[in-house]
Amino acid sequence: MTQKVWGGRFREDPDELVNRFNASIDFDRRLYAYDIEGSIAHCKMLAQQKILTEEEASRITKALGQIRREIERGELPVEAKEFEDIHGLIEKALVDKVGELGEKLHTGRSRNDQVALDMRLYVRDAIERMMNAIRAVQRAIVLSAEKNFDIMMPGYTHLQRAQPVLLAHHLLAYYEMLNRDMERFRESLVRVNILPSGSAALAGSTFNLNREMMARELGFHDISRNSMDAVSDRDFVLEFLFHASLVMMHLSRMSEELILWSSEEFGFVNIADAYCTGSSIMPQKKNPDLPELVRGKSGRIYGHLIALLTTMKGLPLSYNKDMQEDKEGLFDTVDTLEICLEVMEGLLGAITFNAERLREAAQEGFLVATDLADYLVLKGLTFRRAHEVVGRLVLFAAEQNKELRDLSLEELQKFSAQIEEDVYGWLDPASCISRRNLQGGTGPNAVRESLKKAKEELGI
Ligand code: ARG
Repeated sequence: MTQKVWGGRFREDPDELVNRFNASIDFDRRLYAYDIEGSIAHCKMLAQQKILTEEEASRITKALGQIRREIERGELPVEAKEFEDIHGLIEKALVDKVGELGEKLHTGRSRNDQVALDMRLYVRDAIERMMNAIRAVQRAIVLSAEKNFDIMMPGYTHLQRAQPVLLAHHLLAYYEMLNRDMERFRESLVRVNILPSGSAALAGSTFNLNREMMARELGFHDISRNSMDAVSDRDFVLEFLFHASLVMMHLSRMSEELILWSSEEFGFVNIADAYCTGSSIMPQKKNPDLPELVRGKSGRIYGHLIALLTTMKGLPLSYNKDMQEDKEGLFDTVDTLEICLEVMEGLLGAITFNAERLREAAQEGFLVATDLADYLVLKGLTFRRAHEVVGRLVLFAAEQNKELRDLSLEELQKFSAQIEEDVYGWLDPASCISRRNLQGGTGPNAVRESLKKAKEELGI
C-alpha cells in the first residue's frame, strides 16, 4: 500500500497503475535538501508566530536535520516506491521520528507552494553552479588566447576566407558570448529569488504566517505578490531552460569549429589523444567525439525548453498536475549543461594550434582585398570605385592563379595608376591586422586590451 498525504476523502486505494503513473518520487527525490531547508524555515516561522510552541518547533527542526543527514548517508532510502513524492516521504520520516507532532508541520502550507519553493531553491543553486562552470570555460578561453596571441588566421564569413584576424580575437568572441550568458543567468536571479510560500494551495493561508521572515530565513530578496501566480507559473524554470539553450548553442558552435578545424581539410588544431576516440574498424581514425557530443546534446536541451513551454501553454490557473512535468527536463538540463561546460573547459586545454597552417591559410584567398580597397581610398578614390578596381584585380589574379602580392607593380598599375610600391607592405596580412586597432577590432593592441579586460573580469 502506498503512503498518501491525502487519504481521508477516499474509500478505496488507488490502482497500482495510478500510483505508478502519478508518482514523482523517482525524480523529485533530488529536491530533498531543498524540501527540508524550506520545511525548517517554515517550522521556525510557525514557532515565531506562536502557531507551534518553541519546544515543538525545535523537535521538528532537529528531526528534519537528522532526516537530511540520513538521506545524505544513504541510511534513509529515497527510492522507496510507496511514496508519491519527496514531500510525502519526508513528512512520513518526520512522523516516524517525532510522532503525531510531525503532522503539524504542514500547517499553513500546501504541496503546491511547497513544490514551488523547492523548485525556486533548486534553480537558484543551479544558476550559481552553471555560472561557475561558465566562468571556468571563459578562463580556459582566455588562457588559450593569451598563449596563442601571435597566431594569425583567416577570419571567415559564409565559411569562405574573408579577412586575416588574430586567433586570439576569434577565441575571445566566445568569451563575449559566454559573458552575456553569465549576465542572463545572473539577471534572472531577480525573478527566481522570490518566496512563494504562504500562497498555500492557491488562495493564501488563513494562518498568520510571517512571509517576510521566511524570505529572510531562506535568503529570498522578496515575496510573491499573488498566491495564484506563485503556485502556478514556472516561467523561472523556462527562463533557466532558455538561458541553458543559449549556452548550448554557443558551445555547439565552438564544437563545430573544433570539429572542422581538426579535420584533415583544415588542419588548424590538434586535439590531444586523451580527448579523442578511435574507430572500431578504421585503425587510422582519431575522432572528435567530444565536441560532436556537445553539439549533439544541444538538441536535447532545446527539446526540454520546448517541452515545458508546450506543457504550460494551455493550463488554466492555478496549479495543475501537468506542472510535475517541469522536473525531469530541468534536472537533465542541469546535468547536461554542467558536463558539457566541463568537457569544453577540458577540450580548450587539450588542443594545440597549428600556427604555420593557420598563417598560410591567411595568405591565400585574397583576404587582403578589402585592405587594398581601403588603400585606394586613402589615395583619393571613392570606396565604391576602389571596390570595383580591386574586384577586377582579383579576377585578373585568380585567372593566373596568383595572389595580389604576386602581381608586378606594372600589372597593378594597369588597374589603377594610384598604386605604388608601398602597396606590397600594405598587403601583408600582419599589417592588415595591425591596422585594426580600433576598439573591438582584431588589431593586436585592441585584442590585448580585450584580453586584459577579460582577465580583470575573471580575476586572473
Ligand atoms: N509532485 C507534485 C509536482 O511536482 C507536487 C505538487 C503536488 N500537488 C498536488 N496538488 N497534487 O508538481
